[in-house]
Amino acid sequence: MGGGVSVIRASPVIRDVYYQYLAWKVVRKHVPHRRHKYADRRVLEQIIVPFILSRLQPRTVLEVGREPYEAFYNEFFVGRELWTIDWDASRARFGGPKHIVDDAANLRNHFPERYFDLVLMNGVFGWGLNQPEAVEKAFAAVYAILVPGGLFVLGWNDTPDLVPVPLDRVQSLKQFTPYFFAPLNGTSFKCSTYEHTYNFFVKWTQVTAWGTWRRVPGRVPSSRFGRLDQDGTDGRLGSRRGLGHYRPTARSPASPGGPCRFS
Ligand SMILES: C[S@@+](CC[C@H](N)C(=O)[O-])C[C@H]1O[C@@H](n2cnc3c(N)ncnc32)[C@H](O)[C@@H]1O
Repeated sequence: MGGGVSVIRASPVIRDVYYQYLAWKVVRKHVPHRRHKYADRRVLEQIIVPFILSRLQPRTVLEVGREPYEAFYNEFFVGRELWTIDWDASRARFGGPKHIVDDAANLRNHFPERYFDLVLMNGVFGWGLNQPEAVEKAFAAVYAILVPGGLFVLGWNDTPDLVPVPLDRVQSLKQFTPYFFAPLNGTSFKCSTYEHTYNFFVKWTQVTAWGTWRRVPGRVPSSRFGRLDQDGTDGRLGSRRGLGHYRPTARSPASPGGPCRFS
């Protein structure tokens, strides 16, 4: 699903359609049955991933946590440098072309600063990444290894048993800026299944200009999906939701648009 040069140069709308089609094809090839009960998966595979491929065009991707049923996610990222990490050695054969067996809390042992355009961590927070210190360490590492303007997608279950520490109390997350993910109309989106929630964070580009630090505003991707109503829901997928200071906002100063490299 890398996309040839012609696709990369195409207009964002053409790219959106192209990557939505390819994502649909990959999912259909590997998951032939309908997955009514898995709106969270559908949101990830058919909205989040294609939009990111189209608009962010990540060259370096890290996925944290790999289960057998998502081994085919490698196909989403063909032509890109894909790394996966999982602390369970038995998951290695489902990993990407470059796979590491280790705790997400140890990410900094493996990657230099400013390496990844995209970090996807779905179903790990609350599913093994549970100790508050490990959570802090892992999210701090994600921040460090992202390039400026890079995106962190965090998928988690908003149920008391699966939230080891409330996200708005995680200090290392506060370095990020919640990112307004246009297709889901918010910085956070709760799916209709399992209280599964996606949060989007960007590591802001900061440059010195005559000795002062300033934010470099990104270009705001506009939604081409058009399937969600004003409430952020199409009645099936779920809804956008608030989460303390991660509350979805229209482009407020706290959520100013996105990474510079989105187009
Ligand atoms: C519930 S599964 C979900 C993973 C998958 N990404 C998904 O989208 O469904 C959790 C996976 O994360 C791995 N995992 C949990 N805690 C981890 C940690 N602290 N470091 C690395 N991997 C972890 C588990 O071994 C397992 O493969």
